[in-house]
Amino acid sequence: MDESARGRAQEVAAGFTETASDYEGAVKYNLDGIKRLIAGLPDGEFPELLDVGCGTGWSALTFIARYGSRKVIGVDPASGMLDVFRGHAEKFDDVEVELIQADVMDMPVPPESVDAVICTMAMHWFPDKAGAVREMAARLRPGGLLAVLAGGEGVENEYRELMEGIKPPVPAHWPALYDTAPTSERQMLGFLEEAGLDPVDIWIERRFRQTPVDDFLERMRVVASHLSQDIDSEELEAHQARIRDAMLAKAGPRGFEYHFSKLYAVARKPA
Ligand SMILES: C[S@@+](CC[C@H](N)C(=O)[O-])C[C@H]1O[C@@H](n2cnc3c(N)ncnc32)[C@H](O)[C@@H]1O
Repeated sequence: MDESARGRAQEVAAGFTETASDYEGAVKYNLDGIKRLIAGLPDGEFPELLDVGCGTGWSALTFIARYGSRKVIGVDPASGMLDVFRGHAEKFDDVEVELIQADVMDMPVPPESVDAVICTMAMHWFPDKAGAVREMAARLRPGGLLAVLAGGEGVENEYRELMEGIKPPVPAHWPALYDTAPTSERQMLGFLEEAGLDPVDIWIERRFRQTPVDDFLERMRVVASHLSQDIDSEELEAHQARIRDAMLAKAGPRGFEYHFSKLYAVARKPA
C-alpha cells in the first residue's frame, strides 16, 4: 500500500473509532442485508472464520449463528469498533474470538488458515479493492468460501445530486465519496477471478427507501465522519444546515426518498 492510500485508510479508521458507540443504532437497516447474505450462502462446515472490516461483529455473529463456527478472527483498523465487538463477546458462546487491529492489506493472518472469509459493508472503504479480494482469498483454505456484501452502483444518487446542487457549495469531496463506492457485478466478478476464486453467486439488490432526514444524516455522520475531520466546526455546521434544509424541502411525508443498492458476492477457492 502506498503512503497516500495508507493515510486515507488511517483517516477512515480514525473516523470509525470516533463514532463506534453510535454505529449499530445508526445503521440498523444494514443488519438485514447481512442476514440476507448469510442466508444466501451454501450449506457447509466452516469452523474457522475471518471477518474483514469486522466492525462491531454483526456479521460474525450472524455467520456463527448459522454455521456454529468455533473460531472467529475479526480484523479492523478502527480500535473503537473492535472495542464494541469485544463488548459483545458474551454473545459468542463457546467461540474463540481473536480481534486484530489491522488493515485488509496488512493482515497478520497466515495464508490458507481459515474456512470462510466474510466482508460486509466495508469494501467501499478499501482503496485497492482488487488487492483486498486477493488478500482475503489468500487466507482461505482450499475449498473455503468468501462472502462479500458491498455497496452497488447508483447508491444514494438522490443525496449525491442534492449535495452537488447546493449553493454555496459543500466540500467537493463529500459528493465525490460516491465515486469510489460503486462496485458492479462485472467488476466484482473480475476481482474474484483475478484472486483465483470460482464465483458461486453474485447478485444486486436494489431498494427504495424513505428515511427521516435526521436519521439519514445521523447515519452519514457515523459512517463518514472522516470526511469532516479537517473542517472548521462553524463551517461544518453551516454546510450541514444547508444540506438538511435542502433535504427537508425535498422530503415527502415519510422522509427523504432515495435508492440504495447492495452487491452480494459468494465465491469458493478451488479445492
Ligand atoms: C460500515 S463498517 C462495517 C462493519 C461490519 N462489517 C458490519 O457489516 O457491520 C466498515 C468497517 O470497515 C472498516 N475498514 C475501513 N477501512 C478498512 C481497511 N482498509 N481495512 C479493513 N477494514 C477497514 C472500518 O473501520 C469499519 O469498521
